[in-house]
Amino acid sequence: MPETDPTWFKRAILYELYVRAFRDSNDDGHGDLAGVIEKLDYLTWLGVDVIWLLPIYPSPLRDDGYDITDFYDIHSQYGTLDDFRLLVTEAHRRGLKVITDLVLNHTSCDHPWFQSSRSDPQGPQGDWYVWSDDAGKYADTRIIFTDSESSNWTFDSQRRQYYWHRFFAHQPDLNFDNPAVRAEVKKMVRFWLELGIDGFRLDAIPYLFEREGSNNENLPETHAFLKQLRSYLETIHPGAFLLGEVNQWPEDTLEYFGDGRDELPLLFHFPVMPRLFKAVADGRRDAVAWIMKRTPAIPPSCQWVIFLRNHDELTLEMVTAEERSALYQRFAPDPRMRLNLGIRRRLAPLLDNDQRKLKMMNSLLMTLPGTPIIYYGDEIGMGDDIELPDRNGVRTPMQWDESKNAGFSEADILYSPVIDNGSYGFQQINVASQKEDPASLLNWMRRLIAVRRRHPALGGGRFEFLEPANPTILALTQEDETEVVLAIHNLSALPQEVILEAEGQQGKVLRDAFTNELSPAIAGDIRLELEPYGYRWLVIDKNDSGMRG
Ligand code: NOJ
Repeated sequence: MPETDPTWFKRAILYELYVRAFRDSNDDGHGDLAGVIEKLDYLTWLGVDVIWLLPIYPSPLRDDGYDITDFYDIHSQYGTLDDFRLLVTEAHRRGLKVITDLVLNHTSCDHPWFQSSRSDPQGPQGDWYVWSDDAGKYADTRIIFTDSESSNWTFDSQRRQYYWHRFFAHQPDLNFDNPAVRAEVKKMVRFWLELGIDGFRLDAIPYLFEREGSNNENLPETHAFLKQLRSYLETIHPGAFLLGEVNQWPEDTLEYFGDGRDELPLLFHFPVMPRLFKAVADGRRDAVAWIMKRTPAIPPSCQWVIFLRNHDELTLEMVTAEERSALYQRFAPDPRMRLNLGIRRRLAPLLDNDQRKLKMMNSLLMTLPGTPIIYYGDEIGMGDDIELPDRNGVRTPMQWDESKNAGFSEADILYSPVIDNGSYGFQQINVASQKEDPASLLNWMRRLIAVRRRHPALGGGRFEFLEPANPTILALTQEDETEVVLAIHNLSALPQEVILEAEGQQGKVLRDAFTNELSPAIAGDIRLELEPYGYRWLVIDKNDSGMRG
């Protein structure tokens, strides 16, 4: 990946990795940084470019590390700062970049800052959190973790005031109105960048500030602070990979790109994700077409980040109540599969372990306009464990091979049980056996990644959503100076005919990106048949004169 290209991230492929779940090198039952180092060759073999580490800081792990007690160290179960330095060095040696998850909005209630704030209101951290005598303040603010919290305020018996928290009650929000808090955040980002990382995934950033009379999301003050942070970051690590977690509508999310240079370069596209599942459930593209039309153009220096699943519930916050109920019925028939406003299942079970649907959805992941993220384990089609509470069921140990504990650890007690029964058990689904099987999902994913990498128009090109007459077809193009990549998907369980207008492309040939097979020269419309849940990537080489044998 040429460092000289400031938009290299548009063509990158990300891998989201939960350190605790990945590989336990010292057999204490918890994955660790040394374990990640052991598996870096696997990640380069797979072909990803950037690894995103879920939080690795000291934490009581009541929210799997999103509840931090020290922003300047590594959780003792995961290793040491030296291990972290080595991980970054080893990753870089292999051409992999590393980003860490940084939680700015809140800390753990066990953080010494919060302990000092509650015990000494006049002391140095007295004003570091959002305190109030009145739990009726900010009444227009929604609750995010609806299954576990009934208010964004919790009474602290020591300080005898309420403190504000947008997430769990054990995660008090920092007070960004306090300049000392803002200065501390700058110190943190400098600390980690100086350890050599390539950037951050910035957790929960729409909620940094609070203002009475607003819904306390996307406030101008939040944007102003992010702009200050970006300009500071540019002085330390120009071009750092900064990915914001903004679960909002596209028009609100757009604001976080700023003018393209002064806020965040990368943002998740949350609302498209549930609509991909809706499209496959409906066997129609309408839901995706609707959101793509509603997605504004973004500055050329910026990028959407596309995902199918992640470590959280599949959020249904960005769909209507009616759509949500249909999605629940289809994808979470058992109430235990539901959490907050979402579905706590992994990709393969959501798609009935149907390899055709898994491939089609991953093809969409790789061809929609943005940078794709693969959630660890989804490349082999891992299952979930709905018996486990909260989101733990989608955070079980990575399934490496058929040995004890799926090759994750030799320990007798693990942080979480491995999935060891049924069709998703590690005996059936693991990296080692899929590596050996040329027809496995893993080998197919590796090929998908390799083919995407050969086509820089994907991710970096000009995007167009096509609307052929057949509504079961989801077709799109991405185009750069050298080529047009046409990606076509059949969302239905029946074979479908596709007819696409090919204005301006007459006489050109289409090359299948996977088989290299060439079509006859285009004359009139492009017509083809797609098998149930089939997909095709067809490439038009702009330098092709059309003159062929
Ligand atoms: C978003 C993270 O993705 C989620 O896992 C976490 O629980 C919340 N932020 C609170 O930190």
